[in-house]
Amino acid sequence: MIDSFPPARFPATRMRRNRRTDWLRRLVRETQVTVEDLIWPVFVVDGESQRVPVESMPGVDRLSCDLIGDAVGQARDLGIPMVAIFPYIDEGLKTPDAREAVNPNNLVCRAVRAIKNSAPDIGVMCDVALDPFNSDGHDGIVHDGIIVNDGSLDVLCQQALVQAQAGCDVIAPSDMMDGRIGAIRAALDENGLEQVAIMSYAAKYASGFYDPFRDAVGSGGALKGDKKTYQMDPGNTDEALREVALDIAEGADMVMVKPGLPYLDVVLRVKEAFGMPTFAYNVSGEYAMLRGAGEAGRLDYPKVLMETLAAFKRAGSDGILTYGAIDAARYLKTG
Ligand code: PBG
Repeated sequence: MIDSFPPARFPATRMRRNRRTDWLRRLVRETQVTVEDLIWPVFVVDGESQRVPVESMPGVDRLSCDLIGDAVGQARDLGIPMVAIFPYIDEGLKTPDAREAVNPNNLVCRAVRAIKNSAPDIGVMCDVALDPFNSDGHDGIVHDGIIVNDGSLDVLCQQALVQAQAGCDVIAPSDMMDGRIGAIRAALDENGLEQVAIMSYAAKYASGFYDPFRDAVGSGGALKGDKKTYQMDPGNTDEALREVALDIAEGADMVMVKPGLPYLDVVLRVKEAFGMPTFAYNVSGEYAMLRGAGEAGRLDYPKVLMETLAAFKRAGSDGILTYGAIDAARYLKTG
């Protein structure tokens, strides 16, 4: 194959022949972005009739629970298979033990119930990490300046349980504590929640691309220090494979690489090595760059969004979490 390739040289072979028309380009296209690939992250906020723009993410709003059903219903009508819920928690509810995270009636749980009431046929995924609820802004519990590992697992399990009991379909631990996937799987199973899936943020890097998100959930101001003792170093990929292997061994049903675009090599290696359902998170900073440049008239936002999503598919992602999910779904429908 390699020896005889390419079969003929120019002028017998003309690569441009297959690019001549739109129908031909569509016919020979190797990967397709479809609406089935999209997961839409949604921010929720307390109150009624609240639609609060996120300053750092143009086009993104925080929605109160009475509006979330309609918004998610639109996503469902467009064919988007799943949404991911992220809460903006009032400062007054944040504590060092993040106890609001385990309140069965917290904002996340109320949002899940509201969605399940009005759009039961769309998947709901919830983040497991303490940062929106923690007065220290960290994903685990902080003791004497250390983000403790084993001492965080219990509260993370409880957080997963209240979410699953509220009707969440996919638990997505983003906290990067060691052993949390196994602990959460066991907690779910012990409570009769063996149908609830786990999508692990398996290879999650300590990234500068999360800053707009921290504004959106209001955890940026609280954060003391950085997350480098639990999130991965951007220089590593072998380590990402070890993280993914451990999470699979502990019971992850799906794995995720995050951020997305700057880590496509990791997506490719993870997909090739494990053949698992593999997702990429096109994070807040990636979205803000494209959208911001679009608003400034420097880039054609829908065009670069779709091109970005195509890159994820080429690299082997089965799906993409993207704040542009609604834009992309509309674009796919109407062009
Ligand atoms: C919480 C969490 C973060 C994101 C998803 N879950 C931020 C962080 O780890 O600091 C980032 C998502 C984004 O930037 O879009 N652990």
